[in-house]
Amino acid sequence: MIVVSKKTEVHSLLENKRQSGSKIGFVPTMGALHDGHLSLMREALRVSDVLLVSIFVNPTQFNSSSDLENYPRQLENDLALLETVAPNAVVFAPEVTEMYPPNETLRSYDLGGLDDVMEGAKRPGHFQGVAAIVDKLFQISGPCKAFFGEKDFQQLAIIRHVAAQYHPHVDIYGVPTRRESDGLAMSSRNMLLSPALRAEAPIIYQSMLKFARQVRHDGIEACLKEFVAMVEKSGHLKVEYAEVARSKDLKSVTDFEENTRFFTAVFAGDVRLIDNVSLS
Ligand code: PAF
Repeated sequence: MIVVSKKTEVHSLLENKRQSGSKIGFVPTMGALHDGHLSLMREALRVSDVLLVSIFVNPTQFNSSSDLENYPRQLENDLALLETVAPNAVVFAPEVTEMYPPNETLRSYDLGGLDDVMEGAKRPGHFQGVAAIVDKLFQISGPCKAFFGEKDFQQLAIIRHVAAQYHPHVDIYGVPTRRESDGLAMSSRNMLLSPALRAEAPIIYQSMLKFARQVRHDGIEACLKEFVAMVEKSGHLKVEYAEVARSKDLKSVTDFEENTRFFTAVFAGDVRLIDNVSLS
C-alpha cells in the first residue's frame, strides 16, 4: 500500500499505472472506515486494476462546526483495515491546505435543484461542499470508476450530476447500503452513538420496512404518521424528515408511485442518522 498526501504524487502514480494499461477504481471517503466502505472497495477491485482510496474529512461539507470537530478521525486504524482488503491500494490522505489552498475562491456549482430538498434543505451549503471536494478529487484522480454508497442516495445523485457536467471520464457507481445485523445502516457516525441509543437505532430501519410494506395499501400520509410514531415512541429518537421522493429527480410525492424511495433523517441525541430504501 502506498500512502501519499500530495495531489501531484497521486497524479503521477496513477499516470504511470494508466500508461501500463491499468484501469483505476476510486473510493473517496472521509475515513473512519467500516464494512460499508470495504464493500465499495471490493466492488472497485472487482472491476478495476488499481484502487485509489482518499481519506479526507472535508470541512466545506459540514454546516456545523461541532459536527466537524466530532467527526471520527482514526487514520492509523483506517490504514490497518485497508491493508487487509486492498494491500496494493494507493491511499491519498491530504491535509486541509492541500485541498483548499489559502486564498482560493470556491466556485459555486449548479446542482440542478437536486440540493434543494431533504439533506440540502436541512444542511445549507452541505452539497456545495460535497461538489467542491469531489470536483477536486476527480481532477486529481483523472479518468476512473468512482464508487459511492446508496446510503447517501441524494449525495450519489448530486455526484452523478457534477461528474456528468465536469468529469465525463469518471464513471459513477452506486453500491447498495450495508447494514449491521440488526438493520442499522452502516455509517461512521454510528460509533458516536451511546450504547443506549445504539440499541434503539435499529427501530429506524424496522419502521422503514414497515412503511415499504404498507404504503401501497395505506397511502403515504398515513404511513408517514405511523413511521414517525414508531421511531419516536421511546422519546429518545426524533425524526427530522421522512418523505417519499422519486429516485430519478428526488422530487417529493404525496401519492404513491413506482420508482420512488423512502428517505429519512433521524436524530439520536446529537447524532444525525440518515437512511433510505427503495419502494419499487
Ligand atoms: O460520503 C462521503 O464519505 C463524503 O461525503 C465524500 C463523498 C467522500 C465527500 O467528502
